[in-house]
Amino acid sequence: MRTTKTSLLPFYFLLCVLIGTALSRAQENGAPHLEKRGGTTQLIVDGKPFLMLSGELHNSSSSNLDYMKPIWPKLGATGLNTVVTPLSWELIEPAEGKYDFTLVDGLIDQARQAHQRIVFLWLASWKNGMSSYAPVWVKEDSRRFTRVVEHGSEVEILSPLCQATREADARAYAALMRHIKQVDGSQHTVLMMQVENEVGVLGDSRDRSEAANKAFASQVPDQLTAYLKAHRDDLYPDLREQWEANGAKSTGTWTEVFGEGERADEIFMAWQYAGYIQAVARSGKAEYDIPMYVNTWLPGENTPPGQYPSGGSQPRVVDVWKAAGPGLDFYSPDLYAANFEEWCQRYHRDGNPLYMPETRGGAAGAANVFYALGEDAGLGFSPFGIESEAGETDPLGDSYRAIAAVAPLLLEHQAAGDVHGFLLDRDRRSVDFTVNGYTAHVSLDSIFGNASESGFGLIMADGKDSFLGVGKGFRVSFTPLAESGQHVGIGAIDEGRFDDGNWVAGRRLNGDEDDQGQAWRFDSRTVHTEKISLYRFE
Ligand code: DGJ
Repeated sequence: MRTTKTSLLPFYFLLCVLIGTALSRAQENGAPHLEKRGGTTQLIVDGKPFLMLSGELHNSSSSNLDYMKPIWPKLGATGLNTVVTPLSWELIEPAEGKYDFTLVDGLIDQARQAHQRIVFLWLASWKNGMSSYAPVWVKEDSRRFTRVVEHGSEVEILSPLCQATREADARAYAALMRHIKQVDGSQHTVLMMQVENEVGVLGDSRDRSEAANKAFASQVPDQLTAYLKAHRDDLYPDLREQWEANGAKSTGTWTEVFGEGERADEIFMAWQYAGYIQAVARSGKAEYDIPMYVNTWLPGENTPPGQYPSGGSQPRVVDVWKAAGPGLDFYSPDLYAANFEEWCQRYHRDGNPLYMPETRGGAAGAANVFYALGEDAGLGFSPFGIESEAGETDPLGDSYRAIAAVAPLLLEHQAAGDVHGFLLDRDRRSVDFTVNGYTAHVSLDSIFGNASESGFGLIMADGKDSFLGVGKGFRVSFTPLAESGQHVGIGAIDEGRFDDGNWVAGRRLNGDEDDQGQAWRFDSRTVHTEKISLYRFE
């Protein structure tokens, strides 16, 4: 063994040099990539961190350039800088091997004219579990491109166990990425790629085709059990519990290692989808290496797999996806659930950066974006069906514009770990956190008997005893962390704005606006940007 490893050393060395060279080449060209900065991972574009203030289009809008024309100005009016844009296999490869990139070029061109960036959604083998976006030449050849079997019948879901489909999808995706590199390799309008959409088997907890049954009765691949062993302490608790409850085995069939039942089925399907999609992603990355991720249909707490796509990158099986290889850069939630903060934390863990390609927009999105970017160091935020609400009056626009103005600072403070975001309402009226040497007590604003119903915002350090805040409907008081016996008072509060990165102070806020020096207030009329400096006295 020792001899074999030693003899492989020059190979590893060469591989590292090649990967390193490829990476630095991509970075030299400023191609979008992820980078660890401080305690977090950020998207770097043209050498600088980039915060995606995005929105996802309805599924069919970007299939037609004329349809898109009036949409772009509305997106700009809401303050978007990035548009999550569907792109389907059926339109790119209408006949096998015959590619048509007219739509890709048109969308990139329109985005550039509208000063927008793009995240493309590769809608190919699966979308919402089903396979409606595969080209007809794939759909009609169900002997070559085999399907999932449920309850004894084939359904309109391509089987992730089918090698021919995997190769066909990967070929098309590679051709697409090659083309994007040709037309965008220097301008970087396209920031990232989502590979497929909300995958998993719908209608049953697993594929019951012959190939799937055979694989299910076979040994769990060593690659997976070795990963579980090596990452035991960091595994998502549900997966660890299930593996340990069945003896934390290193070998065995899927039921021996993970037990009987639909949770084992889900793990099996996660492995199948992950292997397939990692392969598609790898073939694309070999052509143009920009960040690639998958999104996830999130279930209700006790919903059984199959009622939501079984095998998608749920937190409880995300480690299975990671074990299948490094082809994907991160995993993301389509987050419509009410317990927004909890889901953010379920995805922002173990090195996985938070990005939600789909979430609620309007007033809910206008609040939630502060939490995602401020508290969970999000790469970006993206309400679904953005063109329905976008425009001058979309409340999301007030949040996006205010965040865009502080984006360079926010990105710095995400990396430094001294920014916090929060959401307040009647059920959660206050929150405390430590930042910049103080405990900040943030509560719903209230003055002269008028209380805010909700509040949201973010606060970051702005030098010693100073803070920058953005948001509305809350007030903040500070207590020093160190026991000094001193009291803290408000030195000054200024509202203001950033002009080309420079702070331009507006009104000095005092009197009713800071409750006679008792609180840093952000009233609920509009989204405010304010700075505060504190002083101490005996
Ligand atoms: C989630 C899907 O990913 C989207 O494409 C769209 O179908 C929405 N659901 C509809 O709410």
